[in-house]
Amino acid sequence: VLSVSICGSLAMEYKFPEGFKFGVASAAYQVEGDPKSSDRGENIWDYMVHSRPEVISDRSDASMACDSYHLWRRDIEMMEELGVNMYRFSISWTRLLPTGYPNIISEDGKRFYNDLIDGLLEKGIEPIVTLYHCDLPQSLQDLGGWANPLVVDWFTDYANVVFSLYADRVKIWLTLNEPFGICDFGYMELAAPYFDDIKVGGYMCTKNTLIAHAKAYRLYDEVYRPKYHGKVSLSTLFFWFEPATPDDVEATELAIQFWAGRYDHPIFSKEGGWPKKLEKLMLENGKNEGYPYPRLPPLSLEEIELVKGTYDFYGLNHYTTRLIRKVEPGYKPGPYPLMTLDEINVEMIGHPDWKSTELNWFSVHPKGIRDQLNWLKNNYDLKEIIITENGMMSLDPSLVDTGRLEYIRDYMEQVMLAMQDGVPVTGYTVWTMMDNFEWLNGYNLKYGLYAVDFNSPNRTRTPRESARFYSSVVRSRTLRT
Ligand code: BG6
Repeated sequence: VLSVSICGSLAMEYKFPEGFKFGVASAAYQVEGDPKSSDRGENIWDYMVHSRPEVISDRSDASMACDSYHLWRRDIEMMEELGVNMYRFSISWTRLLPTGYPNIISEDGKRFYNDLIDGLLEKGIEPIVTLYHCDLPQSLQDLGGWANPLVVDWFTDYANVVFSLYADRVKIWLTLNEPFGICDFGYMELAAPYFDDIKVGGYMCTKNTLIAHAKAYRLYDEVYRPKYHGKVSLSTLFFWFEPATPDDVEATELAIQFWAGRYDHPIFSKEGGWPKKLEKLMLENGKNEGYPYPRLPPLSLEEIELVKGTYDFYGLNHYTTRLIRKVEPGYKPGPYPLMTLDEINVEMIGHPDWKSTELNWFSVHPKGIRDQLNWLKNNYDLKEIIITENGMMSLDPSLVDTGRLEYIRDYMEQVMLAMQDGVPVTGYTVWTMMDNFEWLNGYNLKYGLYAVDFNSPNRTRTPRESARFYSSVVRSRTLRT
């Protein structure tokens, strides 16, 4: 680290260590498009946007999205322009297995991902592949989806097909993107399947995602690792939380355990299983509601052992920090449902000094990522952390995206500082390379280093200021603040 004083203010210069990886991320459903001309089967987002178009803020759909199904060569060119050396993308379950089951493997799907992986490797870009990023086959949803324990077999069979096709070339795998998003968002009407059933379906989903992840991990471990020597983990969506007042310290730790620990503790902690305090509290909550059984389905001793330790690194999706404040039971949620975690009676609020984005849940507080990385280091035994998503949303489509540029600069600086604290971060990934179908926000919300013209038939991609900035950091492996 070098520090230089320019006009009285301190400019810092950080050099990224040799081997540190820089990447960009995407997800199949948000960029690929083309469910019609190929044989891709229907998934839960297709079904939801077509049966309930009103839930998408601009009533759009992802039938063409960024058209990466056809334009993937242009996507690789953009990665070359940026100079990144890893690309995190996901495989669409129903593009590969149109019925959801391994009885039919799509030739087209097989070829598509083969070409993409080979195209990346030719350019020296490492593929990081997510097996599941929000797009469950509708055929499996019709049988109960993630709330049905059979999903474990469905997912493991699918994972086996993917590993058998691509594990010779893909060395870094993420089984699931954000189980919190799959279950908590999916069962609180914030994502497909768009159910209002958090306390039954949602918590069944929590358990089933963990077992499905663990089985896929162990499958890789036993069958594929001896030959291909890759790494497997999952990505956790982890808002960082800070206490609003000194009185809220305990509530904040509970909020961390409810949000992230519910999914992380069984996998990454030494003892495994649900976080103890949370498990007890949720049992009491159930009883108070006249429900005598644990709502968080118990994990048997075998299941605890099955899930524990199923990671080779930690994949972190970090966006924002919220303050946590205790509230009385029955407190009415704020304007955005996620503002309240009613299971543990806390509210998430912003800090008056933190810059806010146009969406009220998203504050810019770069130091949050450093504190969170240190928390991970102190709570789990981690040899490696890859930041699998970090980026800034805006409703402003303009190419001069100073806010995003500053966000990336300041968050990367805090990642650097965390590394100086001793946190083993080995890679950083921007969400996202280009504007895409941002789930319930359709095409209104922009996260892209590149802007995409969704009115042009060839989905023209144009770099923003943040793309130039990120590229200069990546190419020089130096961050100047
Ligand atoms: C991440 C998801 O949590 O957040 C991405 O993995 C998503 O798929 C990104 O696009 C931004 O989320 P949102 O809800 O602001 O569109």
